[in-house]
Amino acid sequence: MIKKCLFPAAGYGTRFLPATKAMPKEMLPIVNKPLIQYGVEEAMEAGIYNMAIVTGRGKRALEDHFDISYELESQIKGTSKEKYLKDIRHILETCSFSYTRQMEMKGLGHAILCGEPLVGNEPFAVVLSDDLCDNAELGVLSQMCKIYEKYRCSIVAVEEVDMDEVSKYGVIAGRVMDENVFVVDNMIEKPSKDKAPSNLAIIGRYILTPDIFEILRHTQPGKNGEIQITDALLEQCKKGMVLAYKFKGVRYDCGSVDGFVQATDVFYEKFLKGEMH
Ligand code: UTP
Repeated sequence: MIKKCLFPAAGYGTRFLPATKAMPKEMLPIVNKPLIQYGVEEAMEAGIYNMAIVTGRGKRALEDHFDISYELESQIKGTSKEKYLKDIRHILETCSFSYTRQMEMKGLGHAILCGEPLVGNEPFAVVLSDDLCDNAELGVLSQMCKIYEKYRCSIVAVEEVDMDEVSKYGVIAGRVMDENVFVVDNMIEKPSKDKAPSNLAIIGRYILTPDIFEILRHTQPGKNGEIQITDALLEQCKKGMVLAYKFKGVRYDCGSVDGFVQATDVFYEKFLKGEMH
């Protein structure tokens, strides 16, 4: 039912400088795989095969990653090293990739609006690939697609965070609707601890209905002078309904050094056990 996944990947990644000075943060590897590839694989698991990526200056490596590398491939053809390219080849054979550029970094809401020509007038998923999710069973997007099938409205993934951490996130207030599902009444971008309506923080997974584009077109810059997706979603919830889903799994903020190192430890264990391909 959801056919397209948008990857806003134009941000500067300042928390990871100097590594991200000339390299997109989405290309940072957790063990041997770049963050964006984990995101694409999560989308594929949810049955989504059209990937739309919003890039910016200095992000060409993303396009090159999802393309054939003739010289390299002919070099290792027939050798034992060929197996290392098996997964990425499968992605290239199965998925389509389209790109657009966000020319000025005006915030996540603006980046999503830049993706409109690639997405069109249909519901779509959004993955911020610096949020890497580890799930025992179904991936977060698969979990969210199931909820979308039932309720057909925009959904944000949330997790409980420490109250001292709320000021880093969009935070929701909501009423319980179903198991781990809340109807959103309010959401505030990066609230101070005393203004936060709960400790349910929005993480980098969304399913959005396409009316969000019209709302984003007139959303004024908010916190930090950026066009915030949270502000647009708040308008959407006043007009209709937005759900928050407390997903099953663990999220690592790989845009921060701490989260990146934690994820590396966890995924390296999986790698050693042969659980990663
Ligand atoms: P972040 O808040 O992680 O910002 O954006 P950032 O600039 O990438 O990283 P820091 O904070 O400077 O270290 C969340 C997501 O939104 C995208 C980013 O690429 C990231 O996936 N984004 C953000 C855009 O695509 N464009 C923007 O203008 C802002």
